[in-house]
Order: sequence, then structure tokens, then C-alpha cells
Amino acid sequence: MKEKIQKKFTELFGNEGVFYASAGRINLIGEHTDYNGGYVFPGAIDCGIMAKINPNGTDKVRVFSIDFDEYAEFGLEETDKPEQSWARYIFGVCRETIKRGGKVGGFDAVFAGDVPLGAGLSSSAALESTFAYALNLINNNGFDKMELALIGQSTEHNYCGVKCGIMDQFISIFGKKDSLVRLDCKTMEYKYFPIQLQDYKLVLLDSCVKHELASSAYNKRRESCERVRDAIKKNHPEIECLSDAKRIWLEEVRSSVTEEDIMRAEYVIGEVQRVLDVCDALGRGDMETVGEMMYQTHFGLSRLYEVSCDELDFLNKMARKLDVTGSRVMGGGFGGCTINLVKKDLYKQFVDTTVDEFEARFGHKPKVYDVIISDGARVVD
Ligand code: GLA
Repeated sequence: MKEKIQKKFTELFGNEGVFYASAGRINLIGEHTDYNGGYVFPGAIDCGIMAKINPNGTDKVRVFSIDFDEYAEFGLEETDKPEQSWARYIFGVCRETIKRGGKVGGFDAVFAGDVPLGAGLSSSAALESTFAYALNLINNNGFDKMELALIGQSTEHNYCGVKCGIMDQFISIFGKKDSLVRLDCKTMEYKYFPIQLQDYKLVLLDSCVKHELASSAYNKRRESCERVRDAIKKNHPEIECLSDAKRIWLEEVRSSVTEEDIMRAEYVIGEVQRVLDVCDALGRGDMETVGEMMYQTHFGLSRLYEVSCDELDFLNKMARKLDVTGSRVMGGGFGGCTINLVKKDLYKQFVDTTVDEFEARFGHKPKVYDVIISDGARVVD
């Protein structure tokens, strides 16, 4: 990837410039909890986005995407929003940096990525984080890492139409090799947990399903949660977010929100607790409990939050059938991957059988990615 970028950069812009990179992510547990002020438990992975960037002394950004094989050029004013959707992520990062009082001058860039698109591994956060991190250094803005994650998140909100939480951009900036990070999305306190999987592996099975309307469906889930939070707040003004609510309080608001809203909230309240239970279980080396919580999350995401699909439910059922320790749909849902916690000696049989049976049922093979927990945003030598 580096060579390809280097070659194109030289061809278009010359030899100066520095390489930066950032990562995609997995999440062990804690899904759709971030925008509800709950916990998440992600880790950065060994695939991501890499860019070579050099300030060009103008007020224009000139950028080439290797994967889209496309060039874009734009200014740095709000009205300069580029046509290409991939370029809007970079434009958004520039604008959000400027809105926070940072400086951004024109620059030249070439970038490429190896995060599979639409697999729920957050290629967009990797792109935002690479540029947020690089522009902060290039322009000596001195933003801390949390501010850089927030720049990425506001880019999604204001330039890409997804009202996402903070998990993906956070981990893409803060990720550390061989550690998962538990983040409390209400206080923004976080703790690194070195991964000790003993005789187990984490493997992703990518259904290769990608839903067109995923971002509007995602935003709708968020709105449901906010309606329930606001209804509960009338009786319990002390709560700040849905994750502060007790399950029994849902009964008090049943008549003021829809049945669907209640289902969404029920899932979220359960999920916040499951993250804490998983962290405790990991501390005891109790992988069976970790896995069981993952299955419970899948059930909730499929039946209550309704962000799964036939292909993902099939992958989850196969895991159960083959005695895999834990399995669930990962990320926002509406397609993408399951994450599976599997004993090393069962790994081959699980992957081979599932790939075959999935293909027989759906007519295409799922992709298989072994999880390697790696560093987040960085300068590349
Ligand atoms: C997407 C969002 C995250 C988070 C997950 C679900 O990846 O970007 O903020 O809400 O979905 O956990």
C-alpha cells in the first residue's frame, strides 16, 4: 500500500511529504451504547487507511484516492463542499478543525485503504482519524487526542449524514497494539485491557451484505433511544442518558412512546450491563461467560434492536450449532460481520463448515478475517 501511494504521490505532487495512518476497529461488546452514554469495548485492527500528505502553500486541497481511482480538489470554506462522497470526509475534517479554532492550510494528499468497505469495520473513521491526526501535526494545532476523535465524529454528523456515537473515531485514534479499550461514553474515561485470549481466537465472518439505507436506519434507532430517555427524564430528572435508566422504569413510559422504542431501550439497558460483565469475566479468565454475553447481544441486536439480517442470523446460528464460545453481529449492523470467539482447536472446522454452508444457502462465500489488535493513528516511518 505504501509503495502504491508513494508512486502516485511522486507522479502528481513530487517528493516531499509524510506518511500517516490510522486503523479500522472491532468491538468485543457494547453495541449502540456509545450514543446512549454507555460503555463500549473496542480495539483497533491491523487494517486501515494510509495517506501521504504535504502542505502546498495554497488555500486548496488536492487529493487522490487510490481505491476510487479519483482526484478531487476543493477549497477550505464551508461552501467548497466537494462532489465525491469520499472527499467529503476529508473536507469535513478540515472544516471541523477550523470550526474549533485550528488552522488548516492547503495540502496535497494521496491515500489508500485496506479496510473492507461496508463490512462494519469503520473505514470511514479510519479515514477521518488519519487526516485529523495529520492536520493537527502539520498545522501545530495542539489538539489533544480526544478532540481529534470529536473532529471525526462531527465530520460524520455534519458532512456525511450519520449521527454516530464516538466509539469508532475514539478507537481509531486511541487504539493500542494488543489492547482493547473500555470507554465510558458518558464521562469519556477509558481503560486499556491487554488482550489475553488464552486458547481462543477472535475471527470475523463478513456476510458481504451491505444495506443501502443503513445510515437512515441508524439515525432512527438513535431517535428512538432519545425519545425513551426524554420520557423517562420526566419522572427521573437526575438521569443524563438512557444508559443511566433502570429497566423497570421502562414500564412507567410505555404509554408515552411506541412499542418499538421500548424494545430499542430494553436492548440498550441490557447491553450496558453486559460490557461490565464481560470485563469482569475477562479478569477471571472466564471465557464461557464472555461468549455467552456475546450471544445475548446478538439476540438483542437481532430481535429488539432489529439491526441484523438473515445472513448474520445464519452465521450466528452456525456458531451456536458448532459450539463456538461466542458470536454476534458487530458494529452498526444492517449487514457486515459477525465477531466470533472460538477455541483455537475448533477454528478450522468452524470456518470451513460455516463458509460452505453459508455459500450453499446464500450463493456467495462469507469472507474471513482473523483479528489482530493493532495501533491507531500514527506517523509512518
Ligand atoms: C457505528 C457507529 C458507532 C456505534 C456503532 C454501534 O459503528 O459509528 O458510533 O454506534 O455503529 O455500536
